[in-house]
Formats: sequence, structure tokens, C-alpha cells
Amino acid sequence: MCDNLRSMKPAVLVTKRIFPEAIAFLKEHADVDYAESDDGMRAEELAVRIRGKQAVVSQLMDKFTPEVLATLDGIKVIANVAVGYDNIDVPAATRHGILVTHTPDVLTDTTADFAFMLLMSAARRVVEGHHFVHSGQWTKWRVDLLLGQDVHHRTLGIFGMGRIGQAVARRAAGFSMRIIYHDSRRAPEAVEKELGLELVSAERLLREADFVSLHVPLMPETRHLIGARELRMMKPTAILVNTSRGPVVDEPALAEALERHVIAGAGLDVYENEPRVDPLLLKLENVVLAPHIASASVDTRRKMSMMAAENAVAGMEGRRPPNLLNPELWEKLAGK
Ligand code: GLV
Repeated sequence: MCDNLRSMKPAVLVTKRIFPEAIAFLKEHADVDYAESDDGMRAEELAVRIRGKQAVVSQLMDKFTPEVLATLDGIKVIANVAVGYDNIDVPAATRHGILVTHTPDVLTDTTADFAFMLLMSAARRVVEGHHFVHSGQWTKWRVDLLLGQDVHHRTLGIFGMGRIGQAVARRAAGFSMRIIYHDSRRAPEAVEKELGLELVSAERLLREADFVSLHVPLMPETRHLIGARELRMMKPTAILVNTSRGPVVDEPALAEALERHVIAGAGLDVYENEPRVDPLLLKLENVVLAPHIASASVDTRRKMSMMAAENAVAGMEGRRPPNLLNPELWEKLAGK
């Protein structure tokens, strides 16, 4: 291709390593500036490398604050490789005329599988069992060895009955669990009926649930949704599962509650200051800790990478990105 034709191609910045298929797709449509590392980009580097680009494929650690967004001249679209988008100030992006997209649906079942796995692992103490066998401590069968909590026929309380909350409820229904939930929006009647869901107050959920699983987005209203007060409302036998966002839980308060057996256990995939984990949590046996991998199956992470690439290309080419978070901006840009 001659140089002036090449220069007509739009340009995209990819801030961190994604699946090669997605890079290949981007290269068919744009000049790609690819930070092929797992380190992510500091704000200063982002500010420099984003110049002259029309799109950015971003990840959780890339913070698009109002200040950063104000500097993004020429950027038409930010395509986040995640369903959560608390790293991007979407109203500010809208004010600056930047479309924002995410990767819903493709990760719903994978994330729900993982949440249910954390619930079961914490309930049945499988990680403690693994260490017990691995370290050669298993010398005899004992009637009371590593006793856990039953999952079947128990009560699951779900905060946030969106896509992932519903998928977790679907798994719980297969374990004959009673399912209560709390959300500012009621689930569709057909879903409530199918899964036998009961909408309750936050307080009732905390008091009645044997397992509490969090599936809310991180917003000012959900920051520290679970703190010392809420943990004290939970049963001493209860288990907390968090696959949403770390700051939904007051992490030091949770660590203290676990140490003092205010609740029985927890299964965590997300933390307040990732990748830092509260040092007390690292010492406790009644918590299962995962490194933010709930959506990390080969297929799902590939689909998320592709979906973000497709959103970026659509935005650069002036088509409506399929997974748009600020559709009102599109309407305005399209003159509707
Ligand atoms: C991962 O945490 C996501 O939001 O997709």
C-alpha cells in the first residue's frame, strides 16, 4: 500500500496485551500501536501514545478520569476489555464526545461458574484440603476432618440480579437452593418465577442468607456495600463471595470479621487495591483467594478481546459500536 493510502487508515492504541486474533483483526482496519506487555500504561505514557489515535482498547487498570478524558483529542471510542467500566467516567466521556464500550454477555456464564465455584470451595474447604494433602498431613480418615457447610437446600442471597446475578441464581437453583436477592430494580417476573427468586431488603438478605454473593457494578452507591455493620448482620456460619469489584467490600473490615469468625468464610476474586491484597487475608485459612480471574477461560477471554476490537473498529469507522455504554451520544452524533 502506498504511504498516503496507509496514512488514511485510522489509528488505535492497545494499552495492554490482548489475544492475537484481536490484534490481527485491528490490523486489518487500522494502524495499531500495541503495548504488548502485561504491565499496562502509566497515565503519562498513555497521554503521549494516545496522540493521533482515533480509538483506544483499554483494560481495568487504565483510568479514564475527567482530567485524562479532557486530554484525549481526536479519540472517538474507548473499547474496554471488561464488562465492568468503573475505570472510565462514562458521563465525562460523553461530554467529550467519546463513545465507550464494554464486553457484556460473553463472560456471563464463565463468571457465574467461577462465583459458584468460589462459593463451593469456601463452603467445602477444598483449598484447605488441597494444602492438607499436598503437605503430607493426611495420615488417616477422620469423621470430623475439614468439616464444611452444605450448599444444597441452603439460602443464597444475591446482591445485584443483572446478567451475572441471574446466571448464578440459575446454578443455585440446580442445587435446590432458596434464592433471595436485593436490587434497586426488580428482576423480570418470568425470571423470578423460573428461578423462584424473592426480592428482599438488604438487611433481610444479610440476616437470612447462608451465602451472600455480590454481582453489583461499582458505583458510589455500592462502594463499601458490605462493611463491618453488614458483616455483623450476617450469620456466623455465612460465607461471602465477591466476583464483582473489590471496593464493594470494605476489605480490612472483612479480614477482621473473618479472623474473629463473625462470618465463617469468604471466596474472593477481587480486591480494593488490586493486585494488593490485605495482608491479614493472606494469613487466614477461611478465605479462598483468586487473582481476578472469574472470566478467565480461554474462550471467554478470547471473545472479550475480539468484542473490544470490533467495538473499536466500528467506532473508528463511524458505525455504531455494538456494545455501547453511552448510546445517547451516538444518537446525537448520528443527528437523530
Ligand atoms: C472483569 O472484571 C470484567 O469486568 O469483565
